[in-house]
Amino acid sequence: MLSRLPKAALSIHHVAAGASRQAVRSGSVRFVSTGAPTSNAFQRALNSRAALGSAVLMTVGSVAWYTHLYGSLPFIGEVHASSPAEEGLHPPAYPWSSSGWLDSFDHSSIRRGYQVYREVCAACHSLDRIAWRNLVGVSHTVDETRTMAEEVEYTDGPDDQGEMFQRPGKLSDYMPAPYPNEEAARASNAGALPPDLSLIVKARHGGADYIFALLTGYVDPPAGVEIREGMNYNPYFPGGAISMPRVIFDGLVEYDDGTPATTSQMAKDVATFLHWAAEPEHDERKKNGIKAIILFSALTAISLYVKRFKWASLKARKIIYNPPTGKNMH
Ligand code: HEC
Repeated sequence: MLSRLPKAALSIHHVAAGASRQAVRSGSVRFVSTGAPTSNAFQRALNSRAALGSAVLMTVGSVAWYTHLYGSLPFIGEVHASSPAEEGLHPPAYPWSSSGWLDSFDHSSIRRGYQVYREVCAACHSLDRIAWRNLVGVSHTVDETRTMAEEVEYTDGPDDQGEMFQRPGKLSDYMPAPYPNEEAARASNAGALPPDLSLIVKARHGGADYIFALLTGYVDPPAGVEIREGMNYNPYFPGGAISMPRVIFDGLVEYDDGTPATTSQMAKDVATFLHWAAEPEHDERKKNGIKAIILFSALTAISLYVKRFKWASLKARKIIYNPPTGKNMH
């Protein structure tokens, strides 16, 4: 292609590169003077009206095809999907005592929260990943925990006769589940499965804020919202209709530390407990974070000092150039 063009055209465009770019844009000249012949051909294809035309056609065609397939314009449907009614109301950000960078959990709250879990939530929800021993030193003493574990019967075995037997719980046992299997759990809850609560704080958007908002958020459905028999309205639950009824009411439990058991107090405590259950390493992680900051800032300070020390003689020296003198100069 290039060789077929008159020599003059080439040189003119070389000289007036600016003008030629102008010309390309206006479409009158399909020739760019710079670059090797291959990139030249490529750029020419990009600049062509055919390229523009096919891109427009592609866009219009794919939008039409999407609309035909899914019945809505692309990207616009998604905007609808995140309405509060469908996704659930966004929970407020509560001032948890563990929110700050260097803040630990409130362990009295974990202890009260365990009590709420045991006396209220454990009737329907399992806590499979927490063993009795995990509570030791976090919310309870060894003796308290052992006593609580021994109150539960666990199936063990087989013994010498090949029989399974019942024995009191040990520190190494995991929290007992309310139902033997998923089917039994669904059968007792009108078909809905109460999820395991071990990792629920990590599994839900909003974490502990969501748990608190959900537990305290039960209200009458607004006008025009129909809730099926057996379901409950909660604006924080995606869709608004949840199978779990309101379970926390003022004075439901009696705290052994004398804290008044209001609805919000119990919701806060159980949310803190579940946050700990999902993230038992939380306090240790932040403590290690402080150690890392101390260690690395000390190492930085030392290395800065050593660097300055080693460079001091180089930085402070004076270089003097004495031009050669004498006969050999030229
Ligand atoms: C009477 C049984 C029952 C009790 C008691 C109960 N729940 Fe539930 N819970 C359910 C059921 C059933 C579901 C499933 C709801 C659904 O999917 O509609 C559920 C779901 C949940 C969810 C998950 C919501 C989601 O976003 O999927 C959380 C969190 C929860 N419960 C926390 C608790 C806490 C904390 C307690 C104790 C204070 C508790 N529940 C007590 C039956 C119960």
